Amino acid sequence: MARVSIRPLLPPGAPASAAELVTGFGLWERGSDDGPRPRVLLNMVSSLDGRGSLEGRSAGLSGPADRELFHALRTAADAVLVGAGTLRTERYGLLIRDSARVRAREEHGFPAQPLAAIATTSVALDPDLPLLASPEARVAILTASTASLEGARASVEYIRAGTAGTLDLHAALVQLRETFGVELVLCEGGPHLAGQLAADGLLDELYLSLSPGLAGADPHAEETLRIIAGVDLDPPVTLELLGVLTSDSHLFLRYRVVSAERVSRETIESSSLAS
Ligand SMILES: NC(=O)c1ccc[n+]([C@@H]2O[C@H](COP(=O)([O-])OP(=O)(O)OC[C@H]3O[C@@H](n4cnc5c(N)ncnc54)[C@H](OP(=O)(O)O)[C@@H]3O)[C@@H](O)[C@H]2O)c1
Repeated sequence: MARVSIRPLLPPGAPASAAELVTGFGLWERGSDDGPRPRVLLNMVSSLDGRGSLEGRSAGLSGPADRELFHALRTAADAVLVGAGTLRTERYGLLIRDSARVRAREEHGFPAQPLAAIATTSVALDPDLPLLASPEARVAILTASTASLEGARASVEYIRAGTAGTLDLHAALVQLRETFGVELVLCEGGPHLAGQLAADGLLDELYLSLSPGLAGADPHAEETLRIIAGVDLDPPVTLELLGVLTSDSHLFLRYRVVSAERVSRETIESSSLAS
C-alpha cells in the first residue's frame, strides 16, 4: 500500500497517511447511530471549475493522495453505493484488492469486502463487468424492478424498493441496514445518484476532492457533468465545513450536510441583498 503524506489544514495537524486520517475521522466506529437507515457519506472529485469527469471518466481528475483517500474511505465502509452508470463507465472491479486493506478490515471485525450496492432502474448490467465477474464480490442490487441478473459470478442479492419503476432510496437504505447490518454507506456517485440522494435528504457527509485544474466545458456533451446532476436542489442543500486537507495542490474538503435546516431561497436572497 503506497503511503502518501496528506497535510491537515483545518483543524491544523501533522502530515498523515490517508488510513490514519480516516481512522481520525472515526469512520471505523459503529453503534453510535440508531436511526432507521445507515449513515451515508458521498465521496466525489471535481476540477476547480466544477467538472465531474474528463473524457467520460473521473480518473483524469484524480491524483495519488486523492486515490489513497478514496481507497481508505472504501476500506472503512460497510457498503459502497454506486449508480449503474458509474459501474458501467468506470468498469468497477473487486472493491478492496490490496491485502493490507483487507487485513485492516479483518482486524476491525469486518468482512474482507464491503457490500457493493448498485442502484439501477433497468437492471441492465453486463455480468462480465469485473465486479460482477468476481466470485469474492458481495453485491446487492437496489431496484424497483422485478428483473434479475443472469450469469454473474459474484454473490448477488436484491433489495427491491419503490413503485412504478422508481427506486425508493430511503427504503432501500433501511433494508440495507435491516438485512445486511450496514451502518456506514460510502456513495461514490455518479452525479445522478448523488443528486437523488441529496434531493431525498439522505446525505450525511460530503468528502469533496478538488483537483487543481480548470477543465471548461465538455465538448462531447450537451450539459457538462458536475458532481450533482438531474435534480434542481431548491432550496440548496447547505453544508458545514468539518475539515480541510491538502497534498500536492489538491484540496480535500470534508462537510456535514445540514439537511434538517436547509436554507430557504428567501433567506439567501435577503441576506445577499443586505450584504
Ligand atoms: N467526479 C466524480 O467523483 C464522479 C464519481 C462517479 C462518477 N463520475 C462520472 O459520472 C459519469 C456517470 O454519470 P451518471 O450521473 O450517469 O452516473 P450514475 O448516477 O452512476 O448512473 C446513472 C444510472 O445509475 C442508475 N441510477 C442512478 N440513480 C438512480 C436512482 N435514484 N434510482 C435508480 N437507478 C439509479 C440508473 O441506472 P440504469 O441505467 O441501470 O437504470 C441510471 O441510469 C461518468 O462519466 C463517471 O466517470 C464522476
